[in-house]
Formats: sequence, C-alpha cells, structure tokens
Amino acid sequence: MAGAKAAEAVSPGMKLGLGTGSTVAHFLASLSERFGAGELPDIVGVPTSVRTQLECETLGIPLGTLEDLGRLDLTVDGADEVDPQLDLIKGLGGALLREKMVAQATDHLIIIIDEGKVVDRLGTRSPLPVEVVPFSWESHVPVLESLGAHPILRTDEDGDPYLTDNGNFILDCRFRDGIRDPSRLEEMLARRAGIVESGLFLGLAGEILVGTDGEVIRINRNGE
Ligand code: A5P
Repeated sequence: MAGAKAAEAVSPGMKLGLGTGSTVAHFLASLSERFGAGELPDIVGVPTSVRTQLECETLGIPLGTLEDLGRLDLTVDGADEVDPQLDLIKGLGGALLREKMVAQATDHLIIIIDEGKVVDRLGTRSPLPVEVVPFSWESHVPVLESLGAHPILRTDEDGDPYLTDNGNFILDCRFRDGIRDPSRLEEMLARRAGIVESGLFLGLAGEILVGTDGEVIRINRNGE
C-alpha cells in the first residue's frame, strides 16, 4: 500500500531516484503499471543497485544515470529504521552508498516502510551497516568499538565476505542502547579513511509513508 501510494506522487517527465529492497519492489510494480498505462510519459529513473536496475529492466522502466540527469525531482526508497526526527538507518540490503548518493541528489525523498520500522532511537532494532574498503578492514574494528559499536563482518551464504555493488565489505554495527548521538557518530565515521559510508541518513527524508494494517500513514517534516 505504501509503495502504491508513493507511485501516486510521480508525475510525467519526472527524474526519479529508485531505491532498493523488498518494499521498493512494490513501488516499482505500481510505477511500471502507471507507466505502461501511458500515465507517466518521459519519466526516467536512476537505480540505486544492480538489483533495482535488473528489476526495472524487467518492468520496462526507463533508466538513466546521475551524471546525465543531474538533480532528481523525487526518490522513493525503503529504510530499516525511522526515528521521530525522520532520520534513518538504511543498508541492510547492502545498497547504502548508491542510495545515499541518489538521496543527496534529489529534491524530495519519500521513504516507504511498515510500522515495525518506526523506532524511538536509531540503532535499537537494526544494526548500522558501515561500508568499508576490503584493505585492512579489521583495523576499523577497535575504532568502531571505541564508538560504542559491536561490529560484525557481513558474510554471504557461503561464509565469504559479502561484497557490495561497489566491491566493498560491510560491517554491521550493533549498539547496546541504540545510537545516542547520530550526527556525532556520522562525523566520526566520515573522518576515517577506509570507511566509505554508513547507513545513517540524517536530514534527508522529506516524507515517510508507513503501511499499517489497513491504511497508509503519511508523516512529513512539517510535523503533519
Ligand atoms: C537497501 O540497502 C536498504 O537500505 C533498504 O532500503 C532497506 O534495507 C529496506 O529494505 P526492505 O524494504 O527489503 O526491508
């Protein structure tokens, strides 16, 4: 329902950012339906992962690149946690870096979630994914621990390190009582060479569509 609602926000000619994940898959299906029915001529989307790119190719959604399109009108993406300030944790699907690049290039970011992802404090339900270059990745572990995290290297079904679309590793960081100061943490992570990006999305979401049992609740930055 949240995915279908988000698709209603798309207008003809829009330049779109297309998020990643199982919730976004519903948005893409609704978008493709509207596009196929001729309601959305001249739309073009930037996919945030290889997964989304393949889904769009199957659905016939026209694709472009950030370098060709420049600023985007609207991005629709999922999230793993949303707090009362509309700050997010993203990246359980591994696409955090491209998702953040696309989110920063967009004029309006709509996040679609189910109500289980609404939290009082970030880091209480989901680990924080931190994307790192493979070189000397273990060197980040004590640093992350000094910031209150318990990092674990994400692995694939064979037990090998999980590789992002960018060829990097992910350290999933749990925090015992959640993340007390997300801005400070983001600043500390950004200072360290070898850490590429974290799944903290602060101040980026403009609107949250929460799918509940029977209705979609809309929350935006103006507190409406
Ligand atoms: C992908 O890297 C993530 O940021 C997703 O947006 C997030 O994990 C939500 O995915 P689901 O909709 O599959 O829960």
